Amino acid sequence: MILVLDFGGQYSQLIARRVRECRVFSEMIPYDTPVEEIRRRNPEGIILSGGPNSVYGEGAPRVEDDLFDLDVPMLGICYGMQHMALSLGGEVGAVQIREYGRSDLLVKDHEGLFAGTPDGQKAWTSHGDAVLAAPEGFTVTAETPSVPIIAFEEPERGRFGVQFHPEVRHTEYGMEILKNFLFEACGCKPDWTPVNIITDAVERIRAQVGERKVICGLSGGVDSSTAAMLVHRAIGDNLTCVFVDHGLLRQNEAEQVIEAFGENSEVPLIHVDSKGRFLDKLAGVTDPEAKRKIIGEEFIRTFEEEARGIEDATFLVQGTLYSDVIESGTRDAAKIKSHHNVGGLPEVMDLDLVEPLRNLFKDEVRVVAAELGMPERLVWRQPFPGPGLAIRVIGDVTAERLEILRRADAVLQEEIRAAGLYRDLWQSFAVLPAIHSVGVMGDARTYAYPVVIRAVTSDDAMTADWARLPYDLLEKISNRIINEVPGVNRVALDITSKPPGTIEWE
Ligand code: XMP
Repeated sequence: MILVLDFGGQYSQLIARRVRECRVFSEMIPYDTPVEEIRRRNPEGIILSGGPNSVYGEGAPRVEDDLFDLDVPMLGICYGMQHMALSLGGEVGAVQIREYGRSDLLVKDHEGLFAGTPDGQKAWTSHGDAVLAAPEGFTVTAETPSVPIIAFEEPERGRFGVQFHPEVRHTEYGMEILKNFLFEACGCKPDWTPVNIITDAVERIRAQVGERKVICGLSGGVDSSTAAMLVHRAIGDNLTCVFVDHGLLRQNEAEQVIEAFGENSEVPLIHVDSKGRFLDKLAGVTDPEAKRKIIGEEFIRTFEEEARGIEDATFLVQGTLYSDVIESGTRDAAKIKSHHNVGGLPEVMDLDLVEPLRNLFKDEVRVVAAELGMPERLVWRQPFPGPGLAIRVIGDVTAERLEILRRADAVLQEEIRAAGLYRDLWQSFAVLPAIHSVGVMGDARTYAYPVVIRAVTSDDAMTADWARLPYDLLEKISNRIINEVPGVNRVALDITSKPPGTIEWE
């Protein structure tokens, strides 16, 4: 296992991901994790990340000095390299020409990190400081035209540093360099495979849960479904899934959940059809946060009623991902929207949590889901908000307006899939604003709803860009929606990125 010490760098999470892509398990931890704790976790290697600070500046984040006494191979990246240099007696200072973007490396030593890579290579850099003198015993292994020490190493002690970012795709031989560190310097084995992830998760769930009963709220998304499948594999029928159909799902989605679970997988499934109940509560409510609150509360209440019928339930499954774990530890953001999920349940219900995806990134969950044999549609489903279409029907949520949106959205999904773009987009969906506009169809005046197309690319939903969908595709979507969905006479395209917009309209 590789620990990535995070100094707040833009790419810290990416380092952990790249290591995992090499099939080595990796976790990101704060730079100030006590050395004793790091020792206890017994990593095969440590990577010190980049960071925005100057390592010699006031209040710069520093590890305890005895970190470098650990008999564990270490790779310092950017700030991490400078930190290593300074702590081991080298010198760090500002460079005359700052390097941002692509630099030309000249590799002078191919024994260690650069084994199997050419003399000249492109690398991604982003720094104003650099190592001016390497610590004693270190060899300088690469330079750029403006920075004489862009990489150094002391292979005997397993100490390596690179000023550039091997984790960024623009670094031509980044993966080779990382692999040399992982497999040669640290002696890691590439055994973080989907099959092993599943075996590990199953063992851990069994150890945690034993013979006791577990319940799981299914939303139809890939996270809760994969979590449920893993728990079912571990403990069989001691798991009961509850699927609360709030009537705010997309076309045919409820049927797909029931098909993937109840009928095909033998997971005990309670399907609660609560469509009317949610719509009644939402009648006349137009404020987005009020909608979220109502749906959240109603969801918990419905779930609770069902769960009460399951005797001796002690645990609740949650599809918490590794990115949620990292973010909840580091994020200190203003509240823009209250993102409802089933996170409110345990407090109310006094159940312990089973979180089998806690160590996984979203793309790893998808690989596991596919390995578990889940249907392709579920494995690749784009994220969908808990309150569902209620926050895409702007203003008053009625059965009629939901139906219009559902039909328009189905056309959009179908065409995006047919164009082969579904997986490239973070989310793609239709929005129904609470306005009418005038149109003309078959020589007659219409006064009907517009539908807005929203399609975005993103890595993590924190920022997003509007997707440049091909004009032909937009034309087809627009024609089909207007022809096939009664009540719609206009289609508009949302070309707002996030920020300043958010992904959803409400
Ligand atoms: P925004 O609209 O804030 O959305 O840019 C970021 C991501 O979160 C999803 N989202 C929600 N998810 N409950 C959820 O479970 C919510 O209330 C909610 N609101 C937004 C959104 O779809 C996007 O993926």
